[in-house]
Amino acid sequence: MRIGIIGAGFIGRAVAQLALAAGHEVMLSNSRGPQTMSSVASGIRGSRIGTVEDAVQFGELVLAAIPLAHYRSLPAALLAGKTVLDANNYYPSRDGHIEALDRFETTTSQLLAEHLEGARVVKVFNAILAQDLLTDGRPNGAPDRRALPIAGDDPQAKAQVVQLLDELGFDAVDGGNLAESWRFERAKPAYCIPLDKPGLRAALAEAQREVELPEGSWRS
Ligand SMILES: NC(=O)c1ccc[n+]([C@@H]2O[C@H](COP(=O)([O-])OP(=O)(O)OC[C@H]3O[C@@H](n4cnc5c(N)ncnc54)[C@H](OP(=O)(O)O)[C@@H]3O)[C@@H](O)[C@H]2O)c1
Repeated sequence: MRIGIIGAGFIGRAVAQLALAAGHEVMLSNSRGPQTMSSVASGIRGSRIGTVEDAVQFGELVLAAIPLAHYRSLPAALLAGKTVLDANNYYPSRDGHIEALDRFETTTSQLLAEHLEGARVVKVFNAILAQDLLTDGRPNGAPDRRALPIAGDDPQAKAQVVQLLDELGFDAVDGGNLAESWRFERAKPAYCIPLDKPGLRAALAEAQREVELPEGSWRS
């Protein structure tokens, strides 16, 4: 599979490394252009680098791994019809305040999906630290295999993501549609805590919409 990645930071690079190791083709991109990514190209053997537009055109799947504040810069027309993996989280201290999120009226992934009309957005990779992605993967059936939550409105796109996670070494737990994806946003019990499938299901069920766990309850 060809995976285009928008954002060549911690999470984009970690997913790139895992995907390459699993036999996929990868292209990383950032907003400043491939001429700024020589260290990425040399650090991640086998990865291609390109512009955001190149990565979108390259990818059968496209990962959005940029600070949430910049989500409106993603090229909606080019992404229409694509499956877009959404790793983004809302950190008001980094992203500035977004009122609809502060009022718990929407989710980060719904905002992205509204911008990316025609794309099939699946929330995934947001609730695991980049460094843990590189160490916590296990073969299918391993007793200590970690599960990651996903959410999306398109069953076929979610099935693609479940398959990809399995290849990368993780179980998946379906957290529902994008409107329900608040259950594993920042500061919820499933956020950045290593859990197996039953533990993750319990953490998703336990989440309360307007209750945020204090900083320090999750790893960051
Ligand atoms: N770090 C983690 O462990 C982790 C885990 C799960 C989820 N996340 C989430 O994933 C997202 C990215 O986090 P990160 O830690 O990987 O961030 P990061 O290390 O700061 O990297 C962000 C990357 O996005 C690029 N970028 C920024 N604005 C862009 C735009 N408009 N178009 C294209 N590329 C752009 C940046 O490069 P340029 O500025 O050069 O464009 C950089 O390569 C955040 O929403 C974060 O909350 C992070």
